[in-house]
Amino acid sequence: MKKIIFASNNEGKIKEVKQICSDMNVEIISMKEAGIELDIEENGTTFEENALIKAEAIMKVTGQITIADDSGLEVDYLGGEPGVYSARYMGHDTPYDIKNQAIIDRLKGVEEKDRTARFVCAMAAVFPDGRHFTTRGTMEGIIGYEIKGSNGFGYDPIVYLPQYQKTSAELSPEEKNKISHRGEALEKLKNQLTEYISL
Ligand code: IMP
Repeated sequence: MKKIIFASNNEGKIKEVKQICSDMNVEIISMKEAGIELDIEENGTTFEENALIKAEAIMKVTGQITIADDSGLEVDYLGGEPGVYSARYMGHDTPYDIKNQAIIDRLKGVEEKDRTARFVCAMAAVFPDGRHFTTRGTMEGIIGYEIKGSNGFGYDPIVYLPQYQKTSAELSPEEKNKISHRGEALEKLKNQLTEYISL
């Protein structure tokens, strides 16, 4: 069975990747399981670049096929901010209720049609022979007028999904997984991985 390293220390993401790839003939191994501790500087300017930087760095250490992800929130009215800086926006340790309120405040008086935003997730796969590819998934919404909901994490309470009439933080984990940027990017990754591995 082929081994694939997932370059993440996030238990939730590791579980999701293992679950989605469970019907493939591959074994997904986390960094922890592979005994790797590496702090990688994510200095790319796009989600795809950052995912590739992480996957390449780990592939170089392990010599195994490696996958990695990078994600964030893009707010159109703010020129795509916080984007690749989503985790670092206003400082890594600033609580999300403060970051979320700051984004709502920056959109004060902005009409609904101009409040469009999306969660983006890029996934990258890097092979020891130099082949690599990326996939992208998105979840479209608008920035709400208040912080709402307690599920999920990060910016979920300010991303309002008009078709569900709920914020992303008001969806159950099962509902969110079905439509999320991460789920979409992962499904695409899985399809391409199956093709690449059989080559
Ligand atoms: P990373 O991909 O783990 O580096 O995460 C980037 C950051 O994007 C997170 O820390 C959150 O701020 C934000 N983010 C990414 N996906 C989501 C999501 O599904 N909900 C809420 N925030 C998210």
